[in-house]
Order: sequence, then C-alpha cells, then structure tokens
Amino acid sequence: MNQDKLNELQNKLDIVTVISNYIPLTKKGRNYFGVCPFHDDHKPSLSVSPDKQIYKCFVCGEGGNSFDFVKNYEHVSFIEAVNILAKSVGMDMGITSKQEDDKYQKYYEIMDIANKFYQNNLVSTEGVKAREYLEKRHLTKEIINEFGIGLSLSKPDMLTNLLVNKGHSLEELNLIDLSSTNHDSYINRIMFPLHNKDGKVIGFSGRIYDNSDLNKYQNTKETPIFKKRENLYNYHRAKEEIRKKKYVIVMEGFMAVIRSFTIGVTNCIATMGTALSNEQASFIKKLSNAIYLCYDGDEAGKKATLKSGDVFTSMGAKVYVVSLNDGLDPDDYILKYGENSFKELIDNAIPYNEYKIKALKKNYNLNDVDDKTNYVNKVLDEIVKEKDEIKCEIMLKNLANDTNVWYNTLEKKLIELRASDKMVVKKEDLVVKKDKKDGFNKAMESLIYYSLNYTRAITLIDNSNVYIPNKEIRILFNEIVSYYNQYGEISEASFYTLLNQKEEKSLMEVLKKILSNDYPEIIDDNQVNECLIAIKNYNIALEIRKLEKEIKEESSLERQMKLMEEVRVLKMKEGKSW
Ligand code: CTP
Ligand code: MN
Repeated sequence: MNQDKLNELQNKLDIVTVISNYIPLTKKGRNYFGVCPFHDDHKPSLSVSPDKQIYKCFVCGEGGNSFDFVKNYEHVSFIEAVNILAKSVGMDMGITSKQEDDKYQKYYEIMDIANKFYQNNLVSTEGVKAREYLEKRHLTKEIINEFGIGLSLSKPDMLTNLLVNKGHSLEELNLIDLSSTNHDSYINRIMFPLHNKDGKVIGFSGRIYDNSDLNKYQNTKETPIFKKRENLYNYHRAKEEIRKKKYVIVMEGFMAVIRSFTIGVTNCIATMGTALSNEQASFIKKLSNAIYLCYDGDEAGKKATLKSGDVFTSMGAKVYVVSLNDGLDPDDYILKYGENSFKELIDNAIPYNEYKIKALKKNYNLNDVDDKTNYVNKVLDEIVKEKDEIKCEIMLKNLANDTNVWYNTLEKKLIELRASDKMVVKKEDLVVKKDKKDGFNKAMESLIYYSLNYTRAITLIDNSNVYIPNKEIRILFNEIVSYYNQYGEISEASFYTLLNQKEEKSLMEVLKKILSNDYPEIIDDNQVNECLIAIKNYNIALEIRKLEKEIKEESSLERQMKLMEEVRVLKMKEGKSW
C-alpha cells in the first residue's frame, strides 16, 4: 500500500473520534479512558492518547493505532480497516479488500456459482422430495433462503459440466472439492454452504435425506480455502449479535444453530462435530470472554462439554453450560419443549465448575472410602480455580454436605492447595525476574520504545554500533531506522501501521509486548546510553564466557595466554561507555 497515502490518512484521523464511534470515552488528564472491548472488562482499563494517537489496555495488553482498533473491533483485515477509516474522512485509498485475497478470488467466485446452482435445484421440480424433507423438519422458505440451503442433483456431473462450460478447469474444480476425480463430489444431498469469516462460501456440507445408508453428512475436504480446523459455522452471521449480547453460544451442529436462529437466539456458532481445534478455541475466546457451551445431551456431547470447558477455562474465559437432558440436541429440544423453555435454559446456564463437579460425582461411588477420597480431591482441584471467595465457601459447604467430610478439613486442604499453587507461580516469577535482573532484556525493549518516542535515540543507537542480540528486536530496530531515514519522523502510531503490512505477524506481537511495559515519562540521552551500556556489557560477558571456555579446552600454553589477554582487554571495556 502507498505509505504516503497511509500517512496522509493517519494524519486526518483522530483516534479519540475513531474509538468514540465504538465505545464511550471519558477524559481524565491528558488521556481518555473507556471500558476495554477486547476482554471482559468492568472498569475503564483502555486508555487512549490523543498526543500519541494510540490506545492501550492496561489489563489485556491490547494496543495499537486507529487502524488496529477498527481491525480488532470489527474483526476485519488491515486493508479493510484502512478502507473503513478512509471512507469516514472521505478519502479514497484506491484499493479494494479483494486485492488481498486475489489469489483465491477465483475460487470464491466458483463457489458462489455452485451455491446458486444448488439453491436453484432445491426450488426446481427435481427438488420436490428434498423440499418435503425440509418441511418435515420445520424449515421454512425464509430459513432456507437465509442459510442458503440447496440441493445437489442425483444426475451426476451437472455441476462439473456447468463449471467447465464456464471455462473453469477440472483441475481447479477437483482442488476445491466441487468435483473429485473429474466428477461431481456431491450427489443427491441437501447442501449447507459453509462460509469463511468474511461471509464468502468456501465449502459445503451435504446431508442425505432419502433414507440412504451413506454417511449422514459429507463435508468439503481440506482445500486451499476450506480449513476445517479454522472453520466455525455461522460466525459471519452471528458476530454482531455476539458482540451485542456479550456472550457466544457454542454448539455441535448446524441444525442446532439454524433452529436457534429461528427463535431469535442468534449468537450461536458451531464447531461441526464435538471436536474443538486449538485454532477454533482461541478464535472463540477472542470473540467473547463469556462462552456458553450448548452441546447435544448425549454421552458424546457431555464428554465434549468437559473437554471444551477445561480448554476455555484454562484460557481464562468465563464458561457456562446449557445442559440438555434426555440425549436431545438443541434442535430436538426446541421442537419438543418450545422456545421459551430453551431460552430459560440459556438464562439459567450453569457455571462450568458447578457442572464439572456434578459430572464428576457420577463417576465415583461415594459409599466407597477410596472413591470418595478421590472425589473430594478432584472437587478441591476445581474449587481452587475459583477466584470468588464466597463461591468457594458455598462450594466447600456443598462438598462437606455431599460427603460428610468435616468442613474444616476441606478448608484446610484448600488452603494447602492454594499455597502449593502459589509456590509454582512464585517459581515462574523467579525465572522471569532473573531474566529481568540482567537488565538486559528490559534494555533491549526500552531501545524500541525510546526510538519511537524520542527520535534522537534512533541516531544514538545507530551510531553506537551496539549489536542487539535478540533477533526480533533487531529487526524491529532496523525497520525503525529505515522508516525514519525515509520519512524523517516516526511514532508508535505510524510504526503500528507499518507492521500491519508485514507478512511476519510475530513482529507485531513483540512490539505490543514491548509497548505494554512501563516507561519513564521523560526520556533523555542518558537513559538511552544506559540501555546501550547494559546491552554492550551483556555482549561482552557472553564473549568472555566463550573465551573462558576456549581457554579451558586449549592445550597450547601460548594460545591460552593470547586468549587470556583478550579476556583482560574485554574486561576493561566492561562497564565503560564508548
Ligand atoms: N457431522 C459431520 N459428519 C457426520 C455427522 C456429523 O460432519 N457424519 C457434523 C455436522 O456438522 C453436524 C454435527 O457434526 O451438524 C453434529 O452432528 P449431529 O448431531 O449428528 O447432526 P445434526 O446437526 O443434529 O443434524 P441432524 O439433526 O440433521 O441429524
Ligand atoms: Mn439433530
């Protein structure tokens, strides 16, 4: 993207105005504050600096410039965020978001044609049986349209021929799994289109409907545009609702999501089966910190609830369970008990730890002493994760009642558990502190902050010729130097814009971490020099250690003497400026 144009746009934007369009901000001193939309925030942790044109959350560490805010808030790409903001100030950047996924554009277009073809089949004379089936399942025309449901025909190769006649190659069609070995992949199935995060069709799930004994669902295999591990059914339709309602409901299948949609429960997504991939989990957690698990009420669903519940809890999410009985799935449940009953279940969703304790109880025979002891220990492991003191006490009391173990014994055990937990944390702290004690990591990170907030630092660092041992920080610094040389200025805000355009995403992560540290208000040459000395000393210490090792291994006395002299010279350099 044209950097000058980007800078021009950035200068036209005011971050306070940009963020105020999304969340209320209050002025306090020089800065503005608001409730952070990127984690489950209750007091205003997000600070916005009009001077620096950046925002930062003190709690979750999210930060960036106006583009980053829009990108993260709206879950769009950097280019889309730029376009949204350019539009808001009447600028035309001359780029379309489409350029970004140009290489897949053709596939999306083919998918779109296929989707329309399937939808047409459903309303054609060939679709009578399928329509009857959908009607039996209480899916109205409106819902069929909303979810783009269609039908693949029993006559083979209709779609393949259609697409080949439009000039697409068989190779391509096989690649995106509309055809396989040059024939239609889907034969006589009800077709549910699957969309990516931007709402483009990237695959299909086809369901049997006429008592065939084939697999119930056939899904698009892995293709360049369809990655099962990353896919979440209904995300593009639900994202706004999830934000508004401040929680997301995670389901197994699309019939559950579609049925919920018909009764106005529109903040649901589905993993398409009970397996939850790491990619899906971290995406869902970012989407919302409050996660409602609403899996099928059968054994598989219950098992999956415990698995996903543990995953999301360990990620720090607030997890609740909508528990369905009789082995029903949400679709069956709503049809059987009605919408109000289902909505009540959601309103009264159980906190995950409560659910887990109940589930544990079923696995143990509380009349058996060993079993009971194991049960008590398992439950205590759960209670120790609860941060709310009152909830802890209630859970302890329940456990005491359930097991007839004396409350005081349980409490004592809990205190022990907490202490041993803390020990683990302290140990980790120590490792970090030891790192920090070197002053060296901190010094390297400070160099980046100083360069972005005190431009004299760039020349000081560059002229010092100090080698920055950390690769990412070294790359960041080199980027800063070349930007500065080209534009004669740099800031945190403009640097965020630059990094947003890099393929390498880890650089942005490193920068965010660096900028979330505390730094002095006022920076001068001395501070920069101190950091340079710390890094120089570290490099010398490393060099000395290397030489000392060589000396030990060296057999020639003469060589040893030479190396020792080198060490002596290095030691003299240590601690001094240059
Ligand atoms: N699934 C799949 N392949 C299968 C079975 C299931 O991909 N052979 C996925 C589908 O995404 C499905 C989800 O797992 O939506 C849940 O499965 P299931 O509960 O069996 O399906 P339902 O969504 O309830 O569909 P239906 O009511 O039509 O049986
Ligand atoms: Mn079902």
